[in-house]
Formats: sequence, C-alpha cells, structure tokens
Amino acid sequence: MEIISNCSQEMIKVAARALKAGYLVAFPTETVYGLGADATNEKAVNRIFEVKARPSNHPIIVHISSMSQLDNWAIEIPDFARKLGKSFWPGPLTLILKRSQLAKSFITGNQDSVGLRVPGEPIALDLLSEFEKLGGKGIAAPSANRFCGVSPTTSSAVVEELGLYMGPNDLILNGNQCSIGIESTIIDCTGDVPILLRPGAVSIQNNQNMNSINETPFQSKKLINAPGLLNRHYSPRAKVVLNATAEPGDGFLAMSNIPTPVGTLRLAAPNTIQEYSRILYASLRCADYKELKRLIAIPPEGQGLAMAIRDRLNRAAYGN
Ligand code: TXA
Ligand code: MG
Repeated sequence: MEIISNCSQEMIKVAARALKAGYLVAFPTETVYGLGADATNEKAVNRIFEVKARPSNHPIIVHISSMSQLDNWAIEIPDFARKLGKSFWPGPLTLILKRSQLAKSFITGNQDSVGLRVPGEPIALDLLSEFEKLGGKGIAAPSANRFCGVSPTTSSAVVEELGLYMGPNDLILNGNQCSIGIESTIIDCTGDVPILLRPGAVSIQNNQNMNSINETPFQSKKLINAPGLLNRHYSPRAKVVLNATAEPGDGFLAMSNIPTPVGTLRLAAPNTIQEYSRILYASLRCADYKELKRLIAIPPEGQGLAMAIRDRLNRAAYGN
C-alpha cells in the first residue's frame, strides 16, 4: 500500500487509474476517510469487505460526482429526495433510494435500495471526476476502519486501521483532517416520507426540506441491514462510559466549559459542537494510544450535530 502525501492533480489521476484497474483507494471526505473501490467491479468491492472484515451482506454507499449521476444508480426518485440532494450536495448527506440495474447486489447487500452521496471534500470530488473521465460510474466507499472500529478522520488513522490488510497496489490519499469528523446523515427515501436512519451534520434544523422527516428510532428499522445502525459500534478498546463520575487515571472528554476532574487525562476540550464532532474519533483513538482503561465522556446537549455526537457516543459506550 502506498501513501500519496501530495494530492496534486497528477496524483489524483494516478489514484483514479488505480481504482479503474480494480485496486482500493482510501480517500478523505468531509465526514470521515472512505475506503474506495470501483462500484461496478465486484472483485474490487469484495476486497473492501475483506480489508474491513465486514460482513458481506452489509450495503456500501456509492459516491458520485454530482446530482447528474443520480439517475444512473437510482430509479423512482421521489421529489423530496431530489430536493434534499439539491439542498445538501455536495455534502454530508447519504440518500437511500430504489436501486437501478447498475447497483448490483454486491453493493446493496442484496437489498433493492442503494445509498448515494456526493461528498463535499475537494480531493474526493476531484477523484470522482477523474474516475468518471475514465468511464467510472461511482466509487463505493464505507468508512476506512475495521468492522465496528472507530472511523478514521486522518490518513494516519487509516494506516493504523487498515495498513496491515491493504494490498501492495492499493493507495491512501493523504488530505487534511476531516472537517466534520463523523459520518454522513443517512435518509431513507424509499417510502412515501423520508426517514432518518443515521443522524449527522445535515439535520432537520438545517432546512425546510427536512421538516417532513420522520425521526424513527433506528432500532425500529430492523428490515434494513446497516452496520452503522448496530447498537455497538465506533468502539475503542478503552471502556467508554457516559456521564459518570471520573476517577483519577480515567480519560475525560467534555465541552470546554466543563472542568477537568482531578487526576484525569483530558483528551479534548472543544469550544463548540462542531469542534466536538471534529475531534470525537481522534479522542477515542487517543484513549487507546494512552492505553487508558476507561474514558468518561460528557455528551453535548442540543439538537442537530449534538444529537449525532450523542448517537456515536451511545454506540461507543453500548454495553459498558
Ligand atoms: O460519511 C459517510 O457516510 C462515510 C464516507 C466515507 O462517505 N461512509 C460511511 O459508510 O459511513 P459506512 O459503510 O461506514 O456506513 C454507511 C451506512 C452503513 O450503516 C450501511 O449499512 C448503510 O449506510 N447503508 C448503505 N447502503 C444502504 C442501503 N441501501 N440501505 C440501508 N442502509 C445502507
Ligand atoms: Mg462505518
């Protein structure tokens, strides 16, 4: 596996050619790093499952360069879904739509729907457009972590997660730290009304197109195979416990206005909800570098992105 530290236009072309040849390319998005493969190449997509150790019936999001690619991958697209795409793409939003013939079962986990996203990060968009110039249709990319691990928000975190498992011709594109830091909002648009499956930076508060969104708790959507919807996910080795009294020796994560309990190791003190989201996964990783046994996290209050952070923290702490 090679790390491309300088993502010049020339190197992005190299990466697009690697994808077209069936290799894997990990790349930055504004949410988290993705592990990309040609979404029409079954062998390449199967390697994503191997490298991540992910169960093969879990569907993978297809990344496209713009709204204009939507109808290649999806059919019977409702108006509300087009409005959502127009409002939030490129951006941290994934729409689940009825799949077209192009979206094969190796992408959709045998379901009749497909997840689609136009990412906002310039390197990801460049990679997509170079890939499409070569005849590519879309890049399948889950988060670039081992199954149930913590999603990487830097290229070095990708190396830690997957370096041992990627092949000699696979690439990792080194970009900035992901600006949002948690995965995209997922909205199921296969029914009469949009249903929120995974909260993220795009939230109901953002836009009137989202007002009709039915915030069904994820657990009730049992028919959908979605590992991000597992109760336990995003877990470091350290035991994450929410809102507990911190003891000396524990790690501690909370907004900056909450003082550090005596004897604990403060992992971060974000001043804003956006900053909390950006540093969340790096803080979980840091707990493991420091070989902490326990991490006490105080989830932020509020709606929107704060809700998405609480969702991830609840999953990281599940069962602890
Ligand atoms: O921000 C993101 O969405 C990142 C970046 C790389 O784009 N990707 C990401 O992918 O988080 P992943 O695979 O780690 O999480 C995607 C979630 C999974 O829970 C998957 O099961 C669900 O989306 N998903 C994908 N396609 C689906 C479908 N057709 N129906 C239901 N859920 C789907
Ligand atoms: Mg994931």
